[in-house]
Amino acid sequence: MGKGIWLKTAVLLCCVFAVSLGRELKVKHEDDMPVFNHTLAKILVEYNAAVYESDLTELFSWTCSRCSDMTQGFEVIELIVDIQYCLQAYVGFAKNLNAIIIAFRGTQEHSIQNWVEDLYWKQLDLNYPDMPDAMVHHGFYYAYHNTTLRPGVLSAVKKSKDLYGDINIIVIGHSMGGAIASFCALDLTVLHKAKNVQVMTFGQPRIGNAAFAAYYSELVPNAIRVTNDHDVVPHLPPYYSCFPRKTYHHFPKEVWLYKLGFGSLVYTAEKVCDGSGEDPSCSRSVMGKSISDHLVYYGVNLQAETWNSCRIVTDPRLARYRTTDHAGNIILSRTHPAASPQTLNTLSDGGADTV
Ligand SMILES: *[C@@H]1O[C@H](CO)[C@@H](O)[C@H](O)[C@H]1NC(C)=O
Ligand SMILES: *[C@@H]1O[C@H](CO)[C@@H](O)[C@H](O)[C@H]1NC(C)=O
Repeated sequence: MGKGIWLKTAVLLCCVFAVSLGRELKVKHEDDMPVFNHTLAKILVEYNAAVYESDLTELFSWTCSRCSDMTQGFEVIELIVDIQYCLQAYVGFAKNLNAIIIAFRGTQEHSIQNWVEDLYWKQLDLNYPDMPDAMVHHGFYYAYHNTTLRPGVLSAVKKSKDLYGDINIIVIGHSMGGAIASFCALDLTVLHKAKNVQVMTFGQPRIGNAAFAAYYSELVPNAIRVTNDHDVVPHLPPYYSCFPRKTYHHFPKEVWLYKLGFGSLVYTAEKVCDGSGEDPSCSRSVMGKSISDHLVYYGVNLQAETWNSCRIVTDPRLARYRTTDHAGNIILSRTHPAASPQTLNTLSDGGADTV
């Protein structure tokens, strides 16, 4: 990470001479901060793992190997695949949680190392609409706002409400998917004035500045960012405390998983962090250089079978659920006019095509 070290060194030197040393913009503390629920987190990480499945048939019919017992009975309402940008998301109804779940997949770049190195260089270069002083990175913002994901998700949420009423919406994502999930939840809240939107992300990068984080915690108070031990990604793009107005700043609330004990007595503890978004006693208390800590949360593997490809597998029998746009992006919808629900559970045996 040569470039990253140079940037860090340069900025550290600036910090030494900065007049505003040590002053941070505080994000408002809320008394009604979300209560962290360990059981829910362990269920949601299973839901999150499933979105990395590349066999669309198994994912759509919820028969994939990643579709674990803890998510039994889940009904996918819509599966959205943006072929152009290699993004994937699903929206569905979780019986066991009586909630709509929206899950986003992380990046499928050629290598995770390259993707992580690029994170050092993401600039705060876009004003979030209608939020004075709130700045975000355009790449994270557009991955949700300017792809098939947003229209796909919005239409699926509307269908879900027709089918299941105004139940809770839980938005989840890991890594880059966590950044997209954060923007999606904010969008749903702003669009629908929804009070029942909840966010849980795993190992997400920073996405905006302190002003953005302040808006975020007010509009989406029920947001939890789980970070794992030395996972490098939550440390990026970097946080420079000497440039409080110019730097990236996480929104609250972080829950940090860290190892306690030694030898054969190591176990993972959870620390529920303060309301600042940048609690120095949580993941920021370690250097955070690990990629392997990024890929496994609560013992669950959060990555695709292969990096370096956007391979998806579909089945001709999915045709009746399928809409494809001019760019080749795919939406599989349970409520597609041609679909009949009975055929869905017979899909999982054979006949697959690779795209
Ligand atoms: C935590 O979440 C689980 C799963 O949704 C739920 O059954 C349980 O009641 C929740 N616990 C609390 C204290 O809210
Ligand atoms: C948004 O998407 C359109 C169409 O895909 C593309 O032409 C445009 O460049 C995108 N804008 C940005 C800022 O990425």
